Amino acid sequence: MRRAKISIIGAGNVGATAAHWMAAKELGDVTLVDIPALDGVPQGKALDLSQAGPIEDFDIHLTGATSYEPTTGSDVVIITAGLARKPGMSRDDLLQKNTAIVKAVTEQVKRFSPQAVLIVVSNPLDAMVYVAHQVSGFPAHRVVGMAGVLDTARYRAFIAAELQVSVEDIQALLLGGHGDDMVPLPRYTAVGGIPLPELLPREKIDAIVERTRKGGAEIVNLLKTGSAYYAPSAAVTQMTEAIIRDKKRLLPCAAYCDREYGVGGYFVGVPAKLGAGGVEQIIEVPLSPQERKLFEASVSHVRDLIRTIKI
Ligand code: NAI
Ligand code: 2OP
Repeated sequence: MRRAKISIIGAGNVGATAAHWMAAKELGDVTLVDIPALDGVPQGKALDLSQAGPIEDFDIHLTGATSYEPTTGSDVVIITAGLARKPGMSRDDLLQKNTAIVKAVTEQVKRFSPQAVLIVVSNPLDAMVYVAHQVSGFPAHRVVGMAGVLDTARYRAFIAAELQVSVEDIQALLLGGHGDDMVPLPRYTAVGGIPLPELLPREKIDAIVERTRKGGAEIVNLLKTGSAYYAPSAAVTQMTEAIIRDKKRLLPCAAYCDREYGVGGYFVGVPAKLGAGGVEQIIEVPLSPQERKLFEASVSHVRDLIRTIKI
């Protein structure tokens, strides 16, 4: 059977760590690509990681490159290319530079892997998925952004720590853009099937929601030199696995919503079914007036940001 072919563009912290998780799971053959000025770096990381195979028992091909030929015919392409934020910067501060990078990368992806499902990670996420969609011309179901899996993972980790229970028993939903106005939904959060509001008082939940919204900045402020990458790369690996193995996972993703949730043609975080076709379905859940208000504020932030982009 042909092994899946995965390419990761941007062999930095998120890209290289994603290659690591994907290799450990034997999701497919992985090619890491970075810019010509860093020639040797993606090749060195791929070679080093491949030499962990005999120890960790994974048997896949890992390639590093500074051109796109080795990515030809990829099933999934992940874009992690771009600048990461530093303390004091918001994700939106990366807009202009990362638009140019994501545009250039997407043109190459379109040329070498016209049938791929494209997963965008670069920030500001919801705007960068939009750019990748516009530039690739791929059908919207084959372009998706990673943010919700990461944001819900943070939210779930904080709840587990507060309740002193296993993270495995926490299911959660989060909507909206990947910004400080993202919308975790306690009403759709359950711990072993028990709705969260039955287990924690309102003020504790509010504090967890707030910490989740600022979860990226919390790590930037600790690291000082860049942003989070272990959980982000694990999140994109979970999405890649859902696509490669056609798992039909229901995951919060930045998916194209037109009439869905009344978004009107933008990519924002919603529950989506991920399988071989990419985003196979968007699930619409009823929202209370307060939840809807928060969601609309978050979407309107995404819309305003996208209106400033010159692609
Ligand atoms: P990093 O700086 O470690 O790696 C970025 C890599 O992209 C560098 O190796 C750089 O040389 C490469 N690159 C730049 N321009 C390129 C081009 N034209 N072609 C190919 N490669 C290029 O940054 P890190 O930590 O890996 O983050 C990458 C991006 O992902 C950032 O924009 C960051 O904000 C974003 N991010 C998004 C998350 C999300 O939840 N959506 C979570 C974590 C990071
Ligand atoms: C994060 O949330 C930087 O967007 C990235 O960690």
